[in-house]
This record gives sequence, C-alpha cells and structure tokens, in this order.
Amino acid sequence: MSGKSIPARERLILALDVPTIDAAKTLVESLGDACCFYKVGLELLMTGQYFELVDWLVRRGNSVFTDLKLFDVPNTVGSAVRQLVGRGITFVMVHGNDGMIEAACRAKGDLKILAVTVLTSLDEGDIRDLGFQTDVSSLVLSRARRALEIGCDGVISSGREAAAIRAELGDRLLVVTPGIRPVANLADDQKRTVSVEEAFRLGADYIVVGRPIHGAPDPREAAERIQATIRSLFPD
Ligand code: C5P
Repeated sequence: MSGKSIPARERLILALDVPTIDAAKTLVESLGDACCFYKVGLELLMTGQYFELVDWLVRRGNSVFTDLKLFDVPNTVGSAVRQLVGRGITFVMVHGNDGMIEAACRAKGDLKILAVTVLTSLDEGDIRDLGFQTDVSSLVLSRARRALEIGCDGVISSGREAAAIRAELGDRLLVVTPGIRPVANLADDQKRTVSVEEAFRLGADYIVVGRPIHGAPDPREAAERIQATIRSLFPD
C-alpha cells in the first residue's frame, strides 16, 4: 500500500464530469468536506468557463487536477503546461510519449505532471486494435518506467497494474487510479476496474471517482462512504 504521507481525505479525487459550471459548483458545495480534491476535465473545458471554475476551486482551498490529456508536439505540450503554472493547480495530466512528457516536465514549475499509462477504458483487444504488439500490463509498466526516468511525478494507472508498478518502482512515482467501481463493471465504458479498497491495497496513492459519486442518488453519502473506506485503510 501507499507509504506516502498524504492526508486520508485528499486521497479521493472527484472527477467533475458535469455539463455546466453551475452544476459543478452546486455539486462541490453539496459535497462539503466529503471531498476536497477535484479533477476538472474536457466536458467543463468546452463550457468556456474552465478557468473560472479552476480559480474558484483554488480560492475555496480545494486541490485541483486539470485533466486535459495533453497530447501534441513537445513544444506545444510544454507551452500549454507553462500556461497552467502559478494558478494553484496541483496535478496536470499528459497523455503522450517521452518527448511530450519531457517537455511537460521541463515546463512544470509548481505543478506535478502525471502521465497516462493506458486508459482504464481500454482492454487487450483495444490496444491490439491500436497497433500495440504487447499486453496491457507490459505496456503500463514500460510507460511507468519511462515516466519515472524522465522525471514525471506520477502516472495514471488502473488498479490492476498498480501492484506491478509499486513492486518494480517502489514509492518513487505517485500512482493515481481511475476506473473505480464497486463490483465488476458491466454498466459503462470502464473496463479495467477495481473497487476502492482493492485500488489502495494494490498500491494506489489516489483514486479518481466520477460517476459512482456524481451519478449517485445522494453524492455526498456516496463520497462519505468512500472516505470511510479510505480512513479504515489509512488510519491517522
Ligand atoms: O466516471 P468515472 O469514475 O469513470 O470517471 C473517471 C474519470 O477519470 C473520467 O473523468 C475519465 O476521463 C478519467 N480518466 C480515466 N482513465 C484514465 C485517465 C482519466 O478514466 N486513464
């Protein structure tokens, strides 16, 4: 399990995948202290008020993870990362090869760069369709190894590969795990899923949870239930 000294409450990152800034603010306010770390992604970028929300979250003392899956020529990735420096953002996600990650790391200033390994919505068949001649676990591990060599702060990995990353790379990378589902997932697009407890037992430092919270009948109760599991795994 993660040996990093991260306050238990900060280990839950909520994916704010909602259609409007108002919906995002209402959700954040209704969650109260059940969640203090928010991932702001592509859906909210398209509202045109992305940074209004990011700045609002930072002002209220929340931690922010910008998930725009930056993927472009290294110069452009580096320039985009530079634009995010100094806004109080904690994590930035880059979804690229060595050159892109290197450029992001050079530009990162006060930010922490997280590299996507293999999206949790992809399985063996999907990566073969993309042209990779390897299995998901080997690809995740090789990308994690390279991310560490390049100087990345962490990786995004499904819980299923987190244990192998920890076993080989120890505590030198942050492992952030999306694809969290209570049981085997047949309901939506996430394929390499694990539960909250499994994710942490397999070595995740943070989990990213979206629909199981914002799609729940009572999001605050859903978030509190996850926080209770996290507290039981990481008692003070
Ligand atoms: O709703 P759900 O719990 O599946 O949300 C997971 C979030 O994590 C989404 O915002 C998705 O974009 C993001 N994510 C992911 N897999 C990655 C990187 C990010 O699911 N490898």
